[in-house]
Amino acid sequence: MSSAIINGKEIGQEIRGSVAKQVEELKAKGVTPGLAVVLVGNNPASKTYVTNKQKSCEAIGMYSELITLPETISEQQLLEHIRELNERNDIHGILVQLPLPKHINEDSVIATISPDKDVDGFAPISVGKMMLGQETYLPCTPYGVMKLLEHSGIEVAGKHAVIVGRSHIVGKPMGQLLLQKDATVTYTHSKTPDLPSFTKQADILIAAVGRANFITAEHVKEGAVVIDVGINRDEDNHLCGDVDFAAVDGIASHITPVPGGVGPMTITMLLANTVQAAAKTVQP
Ligand code: GUN
Repeated sequence: MSSAIINGKEIGQEIRGSVAKQVEELKAKGVTPGLAVVLVGNNPASKTYVTNKQKSCEAIGMYSELITLPETISEQQLLEHIRELNERNDIHGILVQLPLPKHINEDSVIATISPDKDVDGFAPISVGKMMLGQETYLPCTPYGVMKLLEHSGIEVAGKHAVIVGRSHIVGKPMGQLLLQKDATVTYTHSKTPDLPSFTKQADILIAAVGRANFITAEHVKEGAVVIDVGINRDEDNHLCGDVDFAAVDGIASHITPVPGGVGPMTITMLLANTVQAAAKTVQP
């Protein structure tokens, strides 16, 4: 029997519907949620991501502003742009698209974003609060995965979740969010010896390693929930995930497709975080 598909497009649309309602309510109170997206240089993938983010904002009535800056901009000049955005009342969320050019220190840039506007949840203060279980903006991709599990009726408490990948953006925070919901969490990565011996234990397997079709049948336990965070191109230049879908289909109880799984959730949670930031500026 085929695995059940977790449809991120559908779940994302449902959540965007309720975020759109919040946008209407805020507008009625005189506040239009605004997101500033900062794009440095000409990375084609980053341009596509940024365009999608902007279109999604506009589709639900939010304001979005794209700040395109040249590849050669100095770190100081970039920091100055961010400080200006920190001060603006019409901008509630700031997102600096990563990666940045090599001569710019990403850590300094991210740390300059006001924690009140850090809708990516990447800044040290946001990460610290998340670790402590305090209220903050959660990083959009792992937050989106939690919503996928919740909307699919998948219980997390007591389950063994195995994460493959340890990035700041996905792997590390993903484990924290699952831990906070009482999962037992194991972190693995590309240098873990005998990876299948770990992943085979997973009730929930999160693939976030960034390698095309890396997770195959030998990695997956019968009945596991498999969440594929990867967005890669295979040798034929087709979009594919970190999971070899055809190989794992039928072994997993549930699986997210690529595209149409985790991807749409990342932008959805960015919209939700920005609306939350705007709502905080409204007097009760
Ligand atoms: N680059 C790849 N993914 C992301 C993301 O979620 N946020 C930002 N700012 N940059 C990215």
